[in-house]
Amino acid sequence: MPFKNLQDLLKSLESRKQLVRIKESVSPDLEITEITDRVVKQNGPALLFENPVNSPFPVLTNLYGSLERIQVIFDIEKLDDLGRGFARFLEIAPPKGWVEKLKLLPKLKEAANIFPKTVKRAPCQEIINTENPDLTQLPVLTCWPEDGGPFITLPVVITRHPGTGKRNLGLYRMQVYDKITAGLHWHVHKDGAEHYRKSSPTEPFPVAVALGPDPITTYCATAPLPDGVDELFLSGFLRQKPVEMVKCITCDLEVPAESQFVLEGYVNRGELKTEGPFGDHTGYYSPADGYPVFHLTALTHRKDPIYPTTIVGYPPMEDQWLGKVTERLFLPLIKQQLPEIMDMNLPVEGCFHNLCFVRIRKAYPGHAQKVMQAIWGLGQMMFSKMIFIFDKEVDVQDLSQVLFHLGGNVDPGRDITVVKGPVDALDHAATLPHVGTKMGVDCTAKWPSEGYTRGWPELIRMSPDVVARIDGIWKSLGL
Ligand SMILES: Cc1cc2nc3c(=O)[nH]c(=O)nc-3n(C[C@H](O)[C@H](O)[C@H](O)COP(=O)(O)O)c2cc1C
Repeated sequence: MPFKNLQDLLKSLESRKQLVRIKESVSPDLEITEITDRVVKQNGPALLFENPVNSPFPVLTNLYGSLERIQVIFDIEKLDDLGRGFARFLEIAPPKGWVEKLKLLPKLKEAANIFPKTVKRAPCQEIINTENPDLTQLPVLTCWPEDGGPFITLPVVITRHPGTGKRNLGLYRMQVYDKITAGLHWHVHKDGAEHYRKSSPTEPFPVAVALGPDPITTYCATAPLPDGVDELFLSGFLRQKPVEMVKCITCDLEVPAESQFVLEGYVNRGELKTEGPFGDHTGYYSPADGYPVFHLTALTHRKDPIYPTTIVGYPPMEDQWLGKVTERLFLPLIKQQLPEIMDMNLPVEGCFHNLCFVRIRKAYPGHAQKVMQAIWGLGQMMFSKMIFIFDKEVDVQDLSQVLFHLGGNVDPGRDITVVKGPVDALDHAATLPHVGTKMGVDCTAKWPSEGYTRGWPELIRMSPDVVARIDGIWKSLGL
């Protein structure tokens, strides 16, 4: 059974010694970061700060910060189990015209779970404040010394496309400016930003923000699904249970009923305010820039809500595990389009968009170049700044093998392809924001048909019969 809400999950984590309660009064201003950062780097437990300074609400950090907790949350044994499940999702829900196809399969168990369910009463609306809602009541963290202010770092931002009405959930941080306004940091490439661009220039554009729905739904807001595919379908599929939704009080949107807090409100097209700087997941501060202003019209919450948040910064941080879930979950989708891909590793040191190691079954000259170009054409994989393509023998999860073959097999003048295009909004190395260059490196053995006629050398390996004989006498050698 999936966890219905964070309260259920915390009970389970506590019984597994995966949660530590901190009674000491600590400040959301930098102190919670310092404690969490040390614990994350030791692969430690989730932390519940029960007495944050200046707020009645406990703060939860590092929820997703270990493989063990990812296994508990998603009810899996290995990360690759996620990919196998997703392959099944694609089988029953092919991306093209899939909603229509799904509707033809109401009896299929998985299909029935995919569609969210509307409920009339919801825990997230046990307390409703429309008169005097106040964001500063929340224990919002100022994470790093040079941050522009306090930032809500795990908000599930819900919008609808003004033309198609299709819903989107995206995890975009929010800077709290005062009691009723906050900056909404959706990057220009993201679906929330596209909905905003399509919104009316004269009417307020409704936005609802769920803090702490069930843990799988929060993950799904980070998943790079194509615009038009509702993240709640993925959540329902992964949970094997529909997500329950309730109508907002002051805007025409629905929010997950089990959320801890809900911020209802709107943005006005064209109203921008400085957001940032913010100590970001690249390990650097991302600079201040103009982002839309969210206006709060209602703050609703459970009777005993928990405020969930995360710290990003110099890796490894908690978000490494959210990134690994995406890498493993989406690999089957990538393989469906590029069957020659055997495996892919987006290492945490590369902050997920800087480095991408790919293992392929090379079948024709120039194949590595084809694969890198195709990856740059796949949704948010377009942000991959450096893609390295390896032969099928190379385990790209093993960085020692990766560096060995990268160093040995590449002739830079021949094997490096540089292309221009969109880059991640957080890439500080590009001369301009949002656009720059990307590099693909062909680390495969080169063939005569690719112009290499010197005869590619063979890797040194011992003959199997000798290995077997030495295995047989190994113990007696006393080594
Ligand atoms: C902890 C965390 C914080 C994030 N913050 C932002 C952010 O502030 N702005 C943004 O555009 N994307 C941010 N992302 C990435 C998006 O959530 C991700 O790209 C997602 O796929 C966006 O959803 P969309 O495809 O529906 O736009 C963050 C991801 C994580 C894990």
